[in-house]
Amino acid sequence: MEHFRTDRLIARDWRTADAPGAFAIYGRDEVMRWLGPQPRVPVPSLEQMRVRLDAMAERAAAEPDYGLWPFELRSTGELIGAVLLQPLPATEQVEIGWHLNPDHWGQGYATEAARGALGLAFGARGLDRVVAVVDPDNVRSLAVCRRLAMTHLGQTGDYYGLTLELFELTRDRSVQAPAGW
Ligand SMILES: CC(C)(COP(=O)(O)OP(=O)(O)OC[C@H]1O[C@@H](n2cnc3c(N)ncnc32)[C@H](O)[C@@H]1OP(=O)(O)O)[C@@H](O)C(=O)NCCC(=O)NCCS
Repeated sequence: MEHFRTDRLIARDWRTADAPGAFAIYGRDEVMRWLGPQPRVPVPSLEQMRVRLDAMAERAAAEPDYGLWPFELRSTGELIGAVLLQPLPATEQVEIGWHLNPDHWGQGYATEAARGALGLAFGARGLDRVVAVVDPDNVRSLAVCRRLAMTHLGQTGDYYGLTLELFELTRDRSVQAPAGW
């Protein structure tokens, strides 16, 4: 199922055939070092990626409104990243996040995918507020938050057992934010 599309991207559900594309993201230290609680190690093999993909697809099917969705380039169909829109554990807040194959960094794809997901969040999902939590040293991800005109609320230790920078975007601010980058 397709979740949203932007000028250059389509976000959709995972497919079995996505294992190599997913491995090109989650098999990379440049990506995994920033994700979730310790230990942050890359997925070790394509076979392991297949197993995790099955679990990810199962989770997505159980909660279709939210989740971690891959996005592909409309021009080539290549899977280059994933965007998440999901409840922050043990809260009523919805978190947005982005994971991009390092070969495709620096072209605005993460920001574009996030804008698509925010359109869904403030549109069809009817949310008033979305948050992001980012490692204080994750300069590229902090820059995505700024490009999205998210408001920095300071550091928090409330999530994932980590010290993280907390950002929010409200529906009102999202509507007012400039479209450029
Ligand atoms: C965080 C992450 C997704 C950011 O990727 P990114 O490519 O830097 O971010 P974007 O896709 O928004 O691209 C922005 C860059 O593209 C440039 N760009 C080019 N065309 C652009 C466009 N049309 N729109 C926006 N930016 C554009 C920007 O100037 C910026 O360049 P810069 O890095 O030289 O400043 C990526 O580093 C990543 O996957 N990291 C590992 C996972 C991770 O940390 N996730 C977040 C956990 S909180």
